[in-house]
Amino acid sequence: MIIGFIGTGKIASSIIYGIFKSKIKIKKIYISSRNRNIAKKLSKKFKTVEISSNNQKIINLSSTIILCVTPVVGRKLLPKLKFPKNKNIISLISTMKLNDLRKIIKCKNVCKAIPLPPIENRLGPIILNPSNKNAKKIFSYLGKIIEIKDEKISQSFWATSSLMAAYYEILNLSTNWLVKKGLNKKIATFYISELFFALSKDAVNKRSFGFKKLVAESQTPKGLNMQVLKELKKTKFYDKFILALNNVHKRMRK
Ligand SMILES: NC(=O)c1ccc[n+]([C@@H]2O[C@H](COP(=O)([O-])OP(=O)(O)OC[C@H]3O[C@@H](n4cnc5c(N)ncnc54)[C@H](OP(=O)(O)O)[C@@H]3O)[C@@H](O)[C@H]2O)c1
Repeated sequence: MIIGFIGTGKIASSIIYGIFKSKIKIKKIYISSRNRNIAKKLSKKFKTVEISSNNQKIINLSSTIILCVTPVVGRKLLPKLKFPKNKNIISLISTMKLNDLRKIIKCKNVCKAIPLPPIENRLGPIILNPSNKNAKKIFSYLGKIIEIKDEKISQSFWATSSLMAAYYEILNLSTNWLVKKGLNKKIATFYISELFFALSKDAVNKRSFGFKKLVAESQTPKGLNMQVLKELKKTKFYDKFILALNNVHKRMRK
């Protein structure tokens, strides 16, 4: 298989790192020269990765093309490119709908995918919409695939995939708080990352019970966890959280 990446930013590089940690057989990977630093680093690290400054050449030389540019760049760039009908196109462009994309690139063999940066360690869910044999062939090596027929439903997953930065901000704030209380930064970072890793692992192990049970079980009556949850609820923290999800969902559906 020959894969071409249009746009070599955060998510493209995470996928490429994941690919080289997996057993997938790839003949060649072509990447855009943008971002220059990321592209240089990848081609230096992996022999099969070749940089091209010509997006059309990347398309012509690859059997599968993964679109990894932002929506604004995509709207400008894609109409200028030709996508032969025999190519497999996987778009990661968040706010560009399938039908709009099909019209722009004049190609029917298109699917949208939502991989996330932990894909670099072959971890995390990957939404595919619609189901697509070729995309499955690649992503089954890189994480847990969830195939979605209906684009509207996949937009809900796009919304929840936007929780990453807010999640990491909780880790960041908790670590800084510990440091302000006099803890060594290395130890504080170690503690917080191990704490959230353990909680996430526990959530995966116990997901069949539902998360409501975990919320209940992690509170001792009148204990510390109960206090924090109560205080956050009182400040409408979780209402604002749901509001942010609703707003990002609205943006997806525009
Ligand atoms: N990051 C994620 O977790 C994630 C997850 C799923 C989907 N996505 C989607 O994937 C897309 C890319 O996201 P990202 O986070 O990887 O963004 P990013 O790091 O900003 O990457 C976008 C890349 O596109 C490059 N680019 C700009 N103009 C170009 C052109 N004319 N030809 C080729 N490449 C060009 C940029 O290069 P310069 O730096 O030189 O401008 C940059 O390296 C977005 O649509 C996003 O919604 C992201």
